[in-house]
Amino acid sequence: MEKSVAGGAPFSQVLIGDLDKERLAAAEQRLRTLGAPVKIYQGSATETIKTIVNSLNAYALHFAFLDPYNLETLDFNIIETLSALKRIDMLVHISKMDLQRNGAKYISKEEHSSLDSFIPGWRQRIDVARGNQVQREQVFECWKDLIESTGVYSSSDVRLITGSKNQHLYWLLLAAKNDLALKFWKTAVDTGQGSLF
Ligand SMILES: C[S@@+](CC[C@H](N)C(=O)[O-])C[C@H]1O[C@@H](n2cnc3c(N)ncnc32)[C@H](O)[C@@H]1O
Repeated sequence: MEKSVAGGAPFSQVLIGDLDKERLAAAEQRLRTLGAPVKIYQGSATETIKTIVNSLNAYALHFAFLDPYNLETLDFNIIETLSALKRIDMLVHISKMDLQRNGAKYISKEEHSSLDSFIPGWRQRIDVARGNQVQREQVFECWKDLIESTGVYSSSDVRLITGSKNQHLYWLLLAAKNDLALKFWKTAVDTGQGSLF
């Protein structure tokens, strides 16, 4: 937000959504304090994203930040809905911690797996006979392939976000339709942060 103002290209609208009313109000307050033109949408992201995308100027430049706690709430429908926009860059937090802690459990579930919303159709594409590490790599690759099927390209340059005790929390990555955004991201990311898995 501050960078966009300092760079002389402030956002004309900042639309934020959350399921939780209080968290949404707190985020709204933080942004208002920074002078952002905020509009709020309370509800499940799979629903609010449709309302948000329908309200946008189809010719504008759009930037989305997706910040879920876990894999399940990063529902692929959200990305698919955003991908309908002509000009869209998405910065996405993917919970590495969730995948590492629970990936094997999600993969072994015969139904109602948290991966069902994250990667629809994952069962046809992940080799459940492989070891945990290979399975985790497959999940990540599978997600990237699915994103690319919408015409949005996910950067292979990933930033690892760690906690106060250096625990691995999230991967931060850019998914964009335009090559220039991916080029800028590559320059911005510090690739010396360790391996993906
Ligand atoms: C990591 S926090 C996001 C924090 C946010 N970026 C901020 O700066 O305040 C994840 C948020 O997802 C919200 N959430 C959980 N499930 C959701 C859903 N299905 N749809 C929309 N938001 C959801 C939670 O209430 C929580 O505030």
